[in-house]
Amino acid sequence: MRTIAVISQKGGAGKSTLAVHLAVAAHLGGHRCAIVDLDPQATARKWGDKRQADGPEVVGDHAERLPQLVDAARSNGADLLVIDTAPNADRASLTAARAADLILIPCRPAAFDLEAIEATRDLAVIAKKPAWVVLSSAPVRSAIVEEARRGLEASGAQVAPQTIHQRVAYSYAVIDGRSASEYEPEGKAAEEVAALFRWASQQVGLPTGGKSRRKAKV
Ligand SMILES: Nc1ncnc2c1ncn2[C@@H]1O[C@H](COP(=O)(O)OP(=O)(O)OP(=O)(O)O)[C@@H](O)[C@H]1O
Ligand SMILES: [Mg+2]
Repeated sequence: MRTIAVISQKGGAGKSTLAVHLAVAAHLGGHRCAIVDLDPQATARKWGDKRQADGPEVVGDHAERLPQLVDAARSNGADLLVIDTAPNADRASLTAARAADLILIPCRPAAFDLEAIEATRDLAVIAKKPAWVVLSSAPVRSAIVEEARRGLEASGAQVAPQTIHQRVAYSYAVIDGRSASEYEPEGKAAEEVAALFRWASQQVGLPTGGKSRRKAKV
């Protein structure tokens, strides 16, 4: 089982959006996937309650219980576990970082957001886990996106090759527990999520073409 933690100390950076979209991409790709929601706001859990599909399963719990949840997911045959985290939650985020094979840090390409990722990058260093910034809610056709990428890379950050743009499909699809890939399968959001998922799968060594589409129990 591979584990991806989506972490950003900044509120509203796009953590839950990224977590549920990657998890659905895994599910649609035939992997058994589960989401652990460590955020008391329970965004991913509420999304899961509305979802009318046979996966991914979403469970919410305190970070202290994460090791048990990881063990349970592994013994139930999950291929991928995606951890969604709360903003401003150093301790819980560090627990998630330690459990992860890959840390994704969604970040809007805007000055205040870019400055705020230092704290999250520090967590990844403490946890000794690979961390990549995912530029998120990026304006379509704006020079600011490439500027942000260059600035981040100049500061030593790794930036995922696929940017997630600001698209209504992301916010609209989740209303009834879907992802943009289900809401508009041929749309641009679906395309960029698929590309990001392919890249993330390579990073963690998740084989492409999963075994079964069964819901992974946690
Ligand atoms: N790529 C995107 N395109 C359009 N809207 C987006 C995108 N990403 C996120 N949003 C919207 O921005 C808001 C914040 O996103 P989200 O809840 O994913 O952030 P978060 O980091 O999980 O927030 P929190 O820190 O409160 O947990 C939501 O309303 C979401 O629908
Ligand atoms: Mg969230």
